[in-house]
Amino acid sequence: MAKKKKDKKAKSKDKASKKAKAGKKSVLKLVAKKANGNGLPKVSSKPWGKDGKALDGVKILDFTHVQSGPTCTQLLAWFGADVIKVERPGTGDITRGQLQDVPGADSLYFTMLNHNKRSITLDSKSKEGMKVLERLVKTCDVLVENFAPGALDRMGLTWEHIHALNPRMIVASVKGFGPGPYEDCKVYENVAQCAGGSASTTGFHDGLPLVTGAQIGDSGTGLHLALGIVSALYQRKRTGRGQRVLTAMQDGVLNLCRVKLRDQQRLAHGPLKEYTQFGQGIPFGDAVPRAGNDSGGGQPGVILKCKGWETDPNAYIYFITQAPVWEKICDLIGQPDWKTHPDYAKPPARLPRLKEIFERIEQWTKTKTKFEVMNECNAFDIPVGPILSMKELAEEPSLRHTGTVVEVDHPTRGKYLSVGNPIKLSDSITEVERSPLLGEHTDEILTKVLKFTPREIAEIKASGATGQAPKAQAAE
Ligand code: COA
Repeated sequence: MAKKKKDKKAKSKDKASKKAKAGKKSVLKLVAKKANGNGLPKVSSKPWGKDGKALDGVKILDFTHVQSGPTCTQLLAWFGADVIKVERPGTGDITRGQLQDVPGADSLYFTMLNHNKRSITLDSKSKEGMKVLERLVKTCDVLVENFAPGALDRMGLTWEHIHALNPRMIVASVKGFGPGPYEDCKVYENVAQCAGGSASTTGFHDGLPLVTGAQIGDSGTGLHLALGIVSALYQRKRTGRGQRVLTAMQDGVLNLCRVKLRDQQRLAHGPLKEYTQFGQGIPFGDAVPRAGNDSGGGQPGVILKCKGWETDPNAYIYFITQAPVWEKICDLIGQPDWKTHPDYAKPPARLPRLKEIFERIEQWTKTKTKFEVMNECNAFDIPVGPILSMKELAEEPSLRHTGTVVEVDHPTRGKYLSVGNPIKLSDSITEVERSPLLGEHTDEILTKVLKFTPREIAEIKASGATGQAPKAQAAE
């Protein structure tokens, strides 16, 4: 009997794997057929209604603020999760009022990080507020928070308490540092960039450490956390149990600086020959130096001037002298003799001459706009990257077309541009909705999600736990 069951199981497993393989094939075919020029799956033009969105049915108790946590929950919302943002009555997420450009309206800082969410105001330190929070814990699948270390515990929401209330709940946190000497520190973007190895490896070798414009500490960590949450949800399908997910900003940044830790170890075996400073005869110390604009992949690359550089701060192009296309580069810039010359033909011979080589290439790029260089080089598979300004990106039609840059309407600030979901799922199309006004959904959540009775709601409100009824609600 047991053997029969086993055989049946093995057969159905076999069938399932054949089916999966067949499925894979057809998906691949479909993707190949529908692929855009950039290889991304085309967004389906058919209604996606049948299977809903990827995270439909997942409820998130969003206890995040500022940037790292909101980045994570916004992504989950874009994939269909119901994200309920809990905010302090009166002020809400501090970023609502930070860097305000339109007086009285939620800032772009807030609106661009909190799309597709609902907002409930709740004083978590009051008795009635905690009653509502506990009901939220029992109702939701995931609690996401990025408070300072210990804040959640101080509220009374320890892991043990949450787990007792709802053993299926996943508790996901962003902290500045993982367990260790700095675990109690409050951390912001640039602190993480410095502590995670980015600043020490960014900039020129004879200049100060630099922070980057990309928010790798905040948004980067939010991205890491989102993957942790989705993985924990997947594991819960098997175990039936929630778990804790932690992403430390230092760890997230270090993960993104992986190639620099690679170079740190290579340094023990001699100088890093692809770094410009090697060609310049500048000795290496015992830690990875700042590499200017050198490419991280080991192929020599620099930023070169293009036509108009004298007046346009972004008339530049990143140019990589990738070995397999070296001969094509020589032809393009009008230096065909370098294809066979012993000083230039092979990569090791070129390393000490990179300055001279790039100066020669720049003579050519300066005669063309960055887009002309891009077009001419791409025709020969020579990798180059135009330095695009934020203005150019905001106006780029292809980014509007794919929904990577979207225009959103907001009741108090009017129309604004935002970055949409950069991750495209062909069966889970993202519709970017405006961020919620402070406490806009308090009543709706108390009634429809948490199923409090009218009497209970009256008690909660009378206690002041939800603050004043939001005036802005009337604006719509
Ligand atoms: N009702 C009542 N109190 C609330 C509340 C609510 N709805 N929401 C938050 N609070 C309280 C917290 O309980 C905490 O109180 P406590 O310190 O008395 O325990 C207090 O508000 C402040 O929270 P905190 O997280 O310390 O805010 P902060 O402005 O002082 O610090 C950070 C901000 C970002 C530095 C800090 O939250 C942090 O280090 N977070 C982790 C790392 C991180 O995400 N950094 C990147 C931010 S983009």
